[in-house]
Amino acid sequence: MFTGKGGVGKTTCSAAAALHYAADGRTLVISTDATPSLSHIFEITDKQKPAGLPSNLEIREIVEHEIRQMWDAKFGREVYEVFSAFVDIEYEEFVEFMTSILPGLGEEFMVDHIRELCLSGDYSNIVWDTAPLGQTLSLLETPALLAEHLRLAPRIYSKLKFGNRSKEPVLEILKRWQKLSAANMDFLRRDVDFTMVTIPEALAVAQLEGTLRELEKYGLSIKQIIINNVVKIEDSLFLQTKSRQQRPYLKQIHEKYHDLKITELPLFPQEIKGIVRLKELGKILF
Ligand SMILES: Nc1ncnc2c1ncn2[C@@H]1O[C@H](COP(=O)(O)OP(=O)(O)O)[C@@H](O)[C@H]1O
Ligand SMILES: [Mg+2]
Repeated sequence: MFTGKGGVGKTTCSAAAALHYAADGRTLVISTDATPSLSHIFEITDKQKPAGLPSNLEIREIVEHEIRQMWDAKFGREVYEVFSAFVDIEYEEFVEFMTSILPGLGEEFMVDHIRELCLSGDYSNIVWDTAPLGQTLSLLETPALLAEHLRLAPRIYSKLKFGNRSKEPVLEILKRWQKLSAANMDFLRRDVDFTMVTIPEALAVAQLEGTLRELEKYGLSIKQIIINNVVKIEDSLFLQTKSRQQRPYLKQIHEKYHDLKITELPLFPQEIKGIVRLKELGKILF
């Protein structure tokens, strides 16, 4: 999983990593960012795939309505049955409400979906390109929040009367939900390697610390930090100035996180698009 603030290079690194892993076996690169750009970076158009794209590499960009479908498949009807007993609401409206209002429910289902893809055993590697920082953190917060909701919910539900309905199914659904959250959290703890992507600039470095602390709080560990956009060639006054500006931030990251694997990626004069450039980047990354 590649995480970090917007624009630091998560999708670029995910694409390069996916190409690297595709050499070993069937690989999936999946983006759960609301504005995905994987196909753009791989230069995939509606009509054709670019030359050199390995046949065992799959590229997927999850969009909003797919999350709704996941919700539908796992809980939709059953929870709706319960709610519609005392709230007059159409099913479509209900799903929309659930996935948009409940904190992190969409993210929960994304984690769950990726966990299922892992369990399927279809892939030797799955590379996960996530949304910018804020959403990623809410993703991590979801199970804890959900557990809190669930702790209170049975007491509320036990006070409600559903006409001739028994309250038993509700509690069972909630229990199933709680189990799902726990399984997803376990999955994040055990099977996911978090790679933090950052750049040597004040805001990014400040956010890095916050994210690492947050991850630690949930028992999730960062395996690697990628510092992207590092000026390596200083053949102009502009680049000298930029490099000088980056130096203290680089020093700060290396000193503070010396126990983590840190990889620096150079700032390239061109944007990174297409298989050839991505492979070049992959060589530096691995
Ligand atoms: N090392 C680099 N050198 C030059 N351009 C880069 C580098 N890394 C990323 N970029 C460019 O920066 C932009 C943002 O990268 P992207 O991977 O989409 O960021 P994110 O997914 O974190 O929002 C893209 O246009 C990409 O080509
Ligand atoms: Mg991106």
